[in-house]
Amino acid sequence: MTRPNNRPDAVVLGIESSCDETGVGLVGLHADGSVELLADAVASSVEQHARFGGVVPEVASRAHLESMVPMVRKAFADAGLRPSDVDAIAVTAGPGLAGALLVGVSAAKAYAAALDRPLYGVNHLAGHVAVDTLEHGPLPSPSLALLVSGGHTQLLLVEDVASSITELGSTIDDAAGEAYDKVARLLELPYPGGPPIDAAARRGDPTAIAFPRGLTGPKDARHDFSFSGLKTAVARWVEQRQAAGEPVPVDDVAASFQEAVADVLTAKAVRAARDHDVRTMVVSGGVAANSRLGRLAAIRCAEAGIELRIPRPRLCTDNGAMIAALGARLLAAGAPASPPDFGADPALPVETILL
Ligand code: KG4
Ligand code: ZN
Repeated sequence: MTRPNNRPDAVVLGIESSCDETGVGLVGLHADGSVELLADAVASSVEQHARFGGVVPEVASRAHLESMVPMVRKAFADAGLRPSDVDAIAVTAGPGLAGALLVGVSAAKAYAAALDRPLYGVNHLAGHVAVDTLEHGPLPSPSLALLVSGGHTQLLLVEDVASSITELGSTIDDAAGEAYDKVARLLELPYPGGPPIDAAARRGDPTAIAFPRGLTGPKDARHDFSFSGLKTAVARWVEQRQAAGEPVPVDDVAASFQEAVADVLTAKAVRAARDHDVRTMVVSGGVAANSRLGRLAAIRCAEAGIELRIPRPRLCTDNGAMIAALGARLLAAGAPASPPDFGADPALPVETILL
């Protein structure tokens, strides 16, 4: 990323450490309110968690400690900027893993104090929505966001990403990405499970097995999700095959599982958009990289007259640019800095965008 000739009015540094990615981003804010990605440095500890089949919090915290300063240096080097060029700093204050969040919050407080700049302690989920402004411009009000990752599965009504987000629904058990990771384990595919299942599914038949679509009955919660029944159904199906001494058709199981996930996510998201008369849908989080989810969302949004926005995969997964993008919106709105004693909040509700 090179420094454009058209200098931004302000530069925002964003720091993310809620899970297993240490992200440091720099975003430029122009006088007309437009934003520009200047740097996006990410170090992932995913390989250190692979043999455990899920993120180990202590391992993640240590990795953040090791990667934080190198990623800050890399972001400034990539953007051709110096720390003194920064006008405001934003950091993920929650939700996420307590120890992991603390590393980012502590680092951000140190940079804010040393540089004497305002610090925003912000919501990670709002960051996943705000990141889309880097790619597709300002978000119309209202917009609907479908957040799908290893940690979250949520439908959000976004009136203003810097000040008003309402949760319409969320998963009552496993997150969508978590279901991918657990099913991958059953099929003896590597962690994280999304990419290998996506690849296997392309070779399989999505209609081979009729897996259940959780919470889609007429009396079920309209905007909530459930994936644990689907995961159990896949486990039972695989066990029965194995007990009968028959080979497991991995590609067909993957394709049928993926179809069930994409069907439920897109049907519920479009329904929520219709219920709230929303014309723009943003899909973000690691699972937004899923090929079938993207295709089905495009088909169903087109049918419903909804504009679909999916940021590029690198921006959908956890990163610092999304936090800087949210910080830029807050700065543009003239939001006050967070109080100096704010802490990390592992259970920060999505409605609390700024501490
Ligand atoms: O947003 P993310 O990087 O981290 C958080 O969980 O916050 O999301 C990671 C999740 C993992 O569960 C991974 O299996 C899933 O996103 N994922 C995918 C794909 N790529 C990553 N799921 C389905 N299809 C994919 N292509
Ligand atoms: Zn995330």
